[in-house]
Amino acid sequence: MDPSTSALKQRLAEAGQSHLLRFWDELSPEERATLKLDLQGMDFQELNSFFKKAMELSCSCKDEKMDSRMEPVPQEVLGSVTRDRENVNCWEQTGLECISQGKVAVLLLAGGQGTRLGVSYPKGMYDVGLPSHKTLFQIQAERLLKLQHLAEEKLGKKCSIPWYIMTSGRTMESTQDFFSRHKYFGLDKNNVVFFQQGMLPAMDYHGKIILESKCKLSMAPDGNGGLYRALGKHAILEDMQRRGIDFIHVYCVDNILVKVADPAFVGFCVQKNADCGAKVVEKSNPTEAVGVVCRVDGHYQVVEYSEITLTTAQKRSADGRLMFNAGNVANHFFSFSFLKDVVETYEPKLQHHVAQKKIPYVDSKGEIITPDKPNGIKMEKFVFDIFHFAKTFVVYEVLREDEFSPLKNADRQDGKDTPTTARHALMSLHHRWVLNAGGHFIDENGTRIPAIPSLKDGTDLPIKCEISPLVSYGGEGIEALVKDREFHPTLIIDESGVHQLVKNGL
Ligand code: UD1
Repeated sequence: MDPSTSALKQRLAEAGQSHLLRFWDELSPEERATLKLDLQGMDFQELNSFFKKAMELSCSCKDEKMDSRMEPVPQEVLGSVTRDRENVNCWEQTGLECISQGKVAVLLLAGGQGTRLGVSYPKGMYDVGLPSHKTLFQIQAERLLKLQHLAEEKLGKKCSIPWYIMTSGRTMESTQDFFSRHKYFGLDKNNVVFFQQGMLPAMDYHGKIILESKCKLSMAPDGNGGLYRALGKHAILEDMQRRGIDFIHVYCVDNILVKVADPAFVGFCVQKNADCGAKVVEKSNPTEAVGVVCRVDGHYQVVEYSEITLTTAQKRSADGRLMFNAGNVANHFFSFSFLKDVVETYEPKLQHHVAQKKIPYVDSKGEIITPDKPNGIKMEKFVFDIFHFAKTFVVYEVLREDEFSPLKNADRQDGKDTPTTARHALMSLHHRWVLNAGGHFIDENGTRIPAIPSLKDGTDLPIKCEISPLVSYGGEGIEALVKDREFHPTLIIDESGVHQLVKNGL
């Protein structure tokens, strides 16, 4: 054995991970080289300590005592698009000013593997079947383009919103390639910055790293909270500083209704002098799979749906609403200085959460086994675990039907958060935009369709209507196109005009 392999062997033995070289003698020179390269880049002592701490945290989370430590978000940190309607324009104006001054960036978390959706490519490339067949990435890119124009128009100053896109080892290449093939959807290429989050090995319940084949470790992205380490590693903060960014809107890839760089949310957080903010919607029922924003031991936190007990999830306030109803829609605001403090000071204090998984592994005979029940863990940091460190934290409540419809699962009958529910949510939002701007829909006989269509044949299909983000960011600017006009669905409004397509024409 050459000296470097002996040194590696020694390091593995000291960390109790010698089994990783179990098949060494059977490997080809190429396989040995690959395995060695993977192992040499790893700090096994650090991994062992991540495992120990993550398991401790996971055990303490199962502790019922969490319930008594949780309190709902206090009123004084809350802003709401419905209850504070008179302030929304003013917040929006502040947000647009910040955008026009080039102070706002958006940061997309797109390193997930889309396991539940069951696709092998990045979720942002998914087409939910809209009339235009736009992907999630394209919708988001066009919203950014439109918002830049709106800020320019309002404040008479050319501006751009840099878009930082975090990918992982599994999504980097295909994401970059997709953007380049689509010419960055019209955005300036220099304002789209890709960077890659880290990966961690999966471990069994005894802290042994799992081999997925004789020469390959089972690796997974280190959670969306891997963001903070990645920001430091890839000098993204320096890039932000160079561009003069003061405020960052962080969001997840899967919400088809996401208001990228939402000026009202940004403006609200800026006016409140917040270093950190979270957008929420009212949780629809106790078992909905969203985290809740709350305080634990006096500190702001998101308690994930998997970490909350049913008893706590079902608790109700005197008004009958769920006590923990601030559903996290994974849209966060950070001031640049707070983000810098997080990356430079707080990141190492963040602990990994444990996700129990069925992890395919190679057994001692060298056979690949796909287990039918969880056999190990993946360790993940969560993006919101830094709320804890915020000095001024605010919460912004928006309407679910306007802003939240995530794509998590593949289509199935009555499925939740599927391509169908996402498509319907977007079309029904655009339908409402047309009605609010004074337009009407008519059926094949020329009869006006009521604003709330009755259920036809037991189905509740929405009116087919899609408005390009290049035409409207949030429902504005369409009056001239639709007021006092009648349309047959499918209605498509895009840069080239207003189009009506005959039934089943798409
Ligand atoms: C997430 C939130 C949850 C919220 C819900 C709303 C977290 C940890 N949880 O849950 O509180 O109620 O969205 O839809 O944020 N990602 C990475 N790298 C990773 C893992 C994930 O970038 O290693 C990205 C994904 O690409 C996605 C986002 O993070 O954009 C959310 O990941 P996902 O696993 O879908 O989170 P949920 O469990 O649905």
